[in-house]
Amino acid sequence: MSATILSRSGAKQRRSHADATDVILTGDRPTGSLHLGHYAGSLRSRLALQGQCAQTLLIADLQALTDSTGRAADVARHVTEVALDYLAVGIDPALTTIAVQSRLSALAELTLLYLNLVTVARLERNPTVKAEVELRGFERDIPVGFLCYPVSQAADISGFRATLVPVGDDQLPMIEQTNEIVRRVNRLTGTPVLPECRALLSSTPRLPGVDGRKASKSLGNAIPLTATTDEFRRLVRAMYTDPGHVRASDPGCVEGNVVFAYLDAFDPDATTVTELKARYRGGGLGDVALKRRLEDVLEALVGPIRARRAELARDRSYVMDVLRAGNERANAITEGVLRDVRAAFSLDAPVKSR
Ligand code: TRP
Repeated sequence: MSATILSRSGAKQRRSHADATDVILTGDRPTGSLHLGHYAGSLRSRLALQGQCAQTLLIADLQALTDSTGRAADVARHVTEVALDYLAVGIDPALTTIAVQSRLSALAELTLLYLNLVTVARLERNPTVKAEVELRGFERDIPVGFLCYPVSQAADISGFRATLVPVGDDQLPMIEQTNEIVRRVNRLTGTPVLPECRALLSSTPRLPGVDGRKASKSLGNAIPLTATTDEFRRLVRAMYTDPGHVRASDPGCVEGNVVFAYLDAFDPDATTVTELKARYRGGGLGDVALKRRLEDVLEALVGPIRARRAELARDRSYVMDVLRAGNERANAITEGVLRDVRAAFSLDAPVKSR
């Protein structure tokens, strides 16, 4: 698969695929069902990487709680929903470990150790945290857990000794902080106990919401992976195109046109999309016809996912078994890493009683 990898120095390099020796870890906050943006941005690359190297998907419920205080029951419910989404798109639990962050207590202990290696000022400078603090209107009342979630994410990544982290570009500051912490652990303990990691950025640009703004569940402008045919139609018809393109014969603008952004991401026939763009620009292609094509493209993609999800949702014991087995495997790995880190910090010697 084609993707951009950021090397340690931050310089961009092109690479055709991940190494077979790479250990992949990525995660999602279970705050709702996944949407088409997740599919284009991350699920698709996880599917492509599946079987090529060791891969774990972490459902980051503790991270979700850092800004969903009081909504713990919702978060718990969404853990199963996200797992169902993974399975429905084709994540195979025999090839990919699916685990739940809160069930891996080694990650909590690693977080506690790492908290000593990061300053408050450094966390406040993290651009993603900064933007989120603003968005949530925390001002000076930032929950400590929220401010520190990049540290917990560093524990997620290093707790699996992950070397490759497929993420959106908003997560690059987290990768940077992780590597800073990893380097500090190795330097302070004098032991190369943890590996640094690289980010794997999707080659698809971030998918906008139907209104052209950033897609988000709270704005209601994202298309859920599990949308029914009717919901789809409604959302596609509401898509922002070009307000100056009134009649089909008018020349239209392709840039910033949400329908074309989705066709670029999902239409398997890129040649036809290029032709459609030319016709749209020149005048002679109406929004209705264009949107109808997108509806067909999306239905072909999502129809099978929706059907598989409905089937999986009928027997919840299967998804529970998948999570139980995934947690067991993930616990074996993260407990092992914690043991090594504890030893490096001399926290493994027996304590004598007098
Ligand atoms: N912060 C990520 C997000 O909001 C989710 C996440 C949690 C994650 N732990 C992770 C991503 C570890 C990559 C690796 O999407």
